[in-house]
Amino acid sequence: MCGIIGYCGPKVAAPILIEGLKRLEYRGYDSAGISVLGPDGRHRIVKKKGKILDLRKAVPAELPGGTGIGHTRWATHGEVSDRNAHPHTDAAASVSIVHNGIIENYSALKQRLQGKGYIFVSETDSEVIAHLLSDLYDGDLERSVKHAVSLLKGTYGMLAMHVNEPGVIVGARNGSPLVVGVGDGEMLIASDVTALVEHTKQVLYIEDGEVVRMTADGHRTTDLRDKPIDRELQVIGWQIEEIEKNGYDHYMQKEIFEQPESILRAIQGRLEPENATAHLGGLNMTSRELLDIERVKIIAAGTSYHAGLVAAYALESLARVPAGSELASELRYRNPIVERNNVYFAVSQSGETADTLYAMRELQRKGARVLGICNVVGSTIPRESDGGVYIHSGPEIAVASTKAFTSQLSALYLFTLLLARMRHMSYEAGLRFMHDLERIPDLVQEVLTRTEHVQELAKKYAQAKNFLFLGRGINYPVALEGALKLKEISYIHAEGYSAAEIKHGPIALINEETPSLFIVPNDGLRDKVISNMKEVKARNGKVIALGVDGDNELADIVDDVMFVPKTHELLYPYLTVVPLQLFAYYTALELGRDVDQPRNLAKSVTVE
Ligand code: F6R
Repeated sequence: MCGIIGYCGPKVAAPILIEGLKRLEYRGYDSAGISVLGPDGRHRIVKKKGKILDLRKAVPAELPGGTGIGHTRWATHGEVSDRNAHPHTDAAASVSIVHNGIIENYSALKQRLQGKGYIFVSETDSEVIAHLLSDLYDGDLERSVKHAVSLLKGTYGMLAMHVNEPGVIVGARNGSPLVVGVGDGEMLIASDVTALVEHTKQVLYIEDGEVVRMTADGHRTTDLRDKPIDRELQVIGWQIEEIEKNGYDHYMQKEIFEQPESILRAIQGRLEPENATAHLGGLNMTSRELLDIERVKIIAAGTSYHAGLVAAYALESLARVPAGSELASELRYRNPIVERNNVYFAVSQSGETADTLYAMRELQRKGARVLGICNVVGSTIPRESDGGVYIHSGPEIAVASTKAFTSQLSALYLFTLLLARMRHMSYEAGLRFMHDLERIPDLVQEVLTRTEHVQELAKKYAQAKNFLFLGRGINYPVALEGALKLKEISYIHAEGYSAAEIKHGPIALINEETPSLFIVPNDGLRDKVISNMKEVKARNGKVIALGVDGDNELADIVDDVMFVPKTHELLYPYLTVVPLQLFAYYTALELGRDVDQPRNLAKSVTVE
């Protein structure tokens, strides 16, 4: 949520900052700005409402200076406007700052500073940092930043420059990510590695309560009491091609089509055919501890929460262990009961989602073991968790999550297999499940070959104002996910329900203009779902069915039908979610929406 970047080096900073902001744009895209410390010793600030493209147009061709900071905003305090865009400065323009996070005590600080004559020009909480720094500046920016942040309550990943210290950027972190990129004679700093990968692979993650001072030649990290922090550099595994569109029209399209490969990456090397089980070294749990697990609880938000719901079905069904998925934002504030042999999974693509992170910390405070299932290596959740699994999907840049979902399923299915084999699952059954799992990438590929038909249906139904997505059992969470995908990128109002549940209320919405998409795999609930479809048809509702190859009866009942290949009953979510992702994608395209950066959203939600 909001992306920040800084550069110190021999090159002209402005284009590097803009390019970096473009990479970070998925974190927020309502306004953006940069500040460059010019050779004349002055801050040149350019900021603009709109996308990075608008900012790029506003930046003069000549903007010299090798030290600068930039920001792409997702508004929290104050409307979307040029004035509220970052960087912020003080009246004398001696400091400029960018900030990601929320300063909770900004009102009190603002009043105090206004009392001293500081004039605020924006409605943001962040501006208070600029005036505070200006007020506290004592000739040493690093020391002044430490003083300033000791007075802040809330979250921040912030960068500051001061006209008296050309070539210096100071960054501080509490609750919002910050990573330093160590280049050859140049240094960068950003909210995440996507902005750095073009320049360097060597990175240093800054932790909460730390302050980093950087110049072109190096960096120094200390805590707020000046204790030096000596942490090893890490190497980023991502390649620049992975963050390009590579011929696709949109990141979302690319990421949907990458799924056969990303699922394979999540599974590869983690199956043990000789024992028909899975191997997940990062869990940091002994066999004894795994055997002692009495309950698995998954905490997450949005799409990751839906992956958790799917996994809970599989865990209960195959491993016979009580399991559930809960919205992290809800769990945190209901004083959760942590029992001795409970294991929690914090599932998060970004590894930075505030709701999930704070819920994880609350559970850990109560003594729980929390494992992470994350994509972004080195992000906060995996760093703070007690162990876990990286899903290795590669960068997911489209705001709507797609490939992360199927890779999260993979990690959770592997864990299910591991636990199931320690409990009730026989070697033969384990082997069969393993083989079914290994076939999934090819089956997803097969689903993708049917894209054209999904595209036709998207075109046909794109004018609907409301949509229902309905499924049962393990496909009920897929219905929720289908509805989420459609609403977030097409802005069509969509609801996901259990197909059984519609008669308890939602059926009132059915008329000729409200289509329903039923997920109806050939499982034990098929006939019940067919009855639900007939109930909708009887009320003149349009029905699309998503069934399994060979289920020819469906075509006679519904208006339109899509098919997926046959698989293990518990693995259908891998296959049924893909047409729904495509359906949302093509519907949004049909309606001319901004597919990769839908309105009001951001990829990484680092505020509560
Ligand atoms: C939906 C979507 C969001 C995220 C949610 C959690 O397409 O992208 O609902 O799934 O914000 O994000 P992570 O997984 O990064 O914790």
